[in-house]
Amino acid sequence: MPADPAARPTPTLRRERQSALYRRAKQAMPGGTNSNFRVWGDDTVYVDRGKGGHVWDLDGNGYVDLRLGYGPVILGHGDDRVDDYVNERMRKGVSFSLTSEDEIDAIELVKELNPWVAKARMTVSGTEATMHAMRVARAYTGRTKIVKFEGQYHGVHDYALISVAPNNMAELGDEENPVGLAWGRGIPEQVAKTIVPARYNNIEFLRRLFEREGRDIAAVIVEPVLGNAAGILPKPGFHQAMRALTEEFGILLIFDEVKTGFRFARGGAAEYFGITPDIATYAKAMGNGYPAAAFGGREEVMSVLPDKMSHGGTYAGNRVAAAAAVATLRLIRDTNALETIHATGDRIRDGVSKLIEAKGLAYHVTGHPSMFGIMFTDQVASEYRDWADTDHDLYDEVAFGMHARGAMPEPDSREPWFICEAHAQGDIVDRVLTAFEGSLAAALDRRATDASHAGRPEAAMSNAAAG
Ligand SMILES: Cc1ncc(COP(=O)(O)O)c(C=O)c1O
Repeated sequence: MPADPAARPTPTLRRERQSALYRRAKQAMPGGTNSNFRVWGDDTVYVDRGKGGHVWDLDGNGYVDLRLGYGPVILGHGDDRVDDYVNERMRKGVSFSLTSEDEIDAIELVKELNPWVAKARMTVSGTEATMHAMRVARAYTGRTKIVKFEGQYHGVHDYALISVAPNNMAELGDEENPVGLAWGRGIPEQVAKTIVPARYNNIEFLRRLFEREGRDIAAVIVEPVLGNAAGILPKPGFHQAMRALTEEFGILLIFDEVKTGFRFARGGAAEYFGITPDIATYAKAMGNGYPAAAFGGREEVMSVLPDKMSHGGTYAGNRVAAAAAVATLRLIRDTNALETIHATGDRIRDGVSKLIEAKGLAYHVTGHPSMFGIMFTDQVASEYRDWADTDHDLYDEVAFGMHARGAMPEPDSREPWFICEAHAQGDIVDRVLTAFEGSLAAALDRRATDASHAGRPEAAMSNAAAG
């Protein structure tokens, strides 16, 4: 059981080396990192190494890693079974822009685990996979528009960065007539206009949209759960209704399985929810952290390649990625890694739930055991706009406080906790729960103190309970 948090002093992280690196890195890289999502200001983390379910920063602070690189590390960091295989294969050379047998092996495994996929091609990132999936849909249907759901993230190409993750929901526009909100500058208006925002879990909205613009819509792209918004789940029947509606209007359905693929089930969210999409995208868990990704679909739809549509890439199917996919997907196919992950996730979700209940807070644990979010609210969230009504400030404080207590979730409630196979080892589950318990207690204490200083002793609890 987790230790009594009151028995421990408030922990702090060593930061000397990382603070110096942050100053140095900012001279060389915008924000001091290679991705906007890693810019955490003075708390920006510079990593040393990872092994299994753990990660260590360059000041020697160790954490149970609940970010897992935003999901790809499905087995654990530095998994010898994958790394040894990749090492062996890469000695034969890495990049030829010719096709190796590893690539055929990798795609055959994608097909075997997702039997509805007839043909697939490798890319290097999820971004490339969704970009090409959208192009396939446009090439096949001859239509231009793509429907995407508010709060869903499909990577960093221009067609994906619409209505993704504003903090202020008013920016998304009226609920009945949402606007296509470009995330940042540099996205041409004409490109943005081809992406039509929709509201997740709202099938009536989708029907009205299809009736109005269906003849111009090539596809709906969907993260099967809101994997970039706490893992908000579909309402019962939502995916089935969306599948039927897309078929009725001759619109293709793209499942973006970049986060859910090979994680929710061997056949991803499509298998888990019992849906057969037309196209799917895979990345992350496909290569246990190596940059392996793919897009694929049913025979007729994929037949636009190679003659009628462009797709290529110097590194597409490179040996490192292909070998990593082969080793990882064989392990997912042949071992009980996923069952272990799901059982570990259930243990952590149960433990977290009990700890929150003990504090009398309203909450919902969302998502799937392998990838879940914690929302402080008494309402079940069903779309991105609902996230605004949760006490995400409390979540962020708890998540950040966990770092100094030895566990690292993303300090943003929109990003789920990820579970890998190695999290089942040793006392990792207890360590996560101890970190959560200590951090939750500290955050609530701080709120109570702030409130009493402000003469409002009830604020801490009522804020959370009201969502
Ligand atoms: C659902 C989804 N699609 C696409 C992407 C983009 O993948 P990548 O970061 O590999 O470009 C992500 C990344 O987080 C994602 O979560």
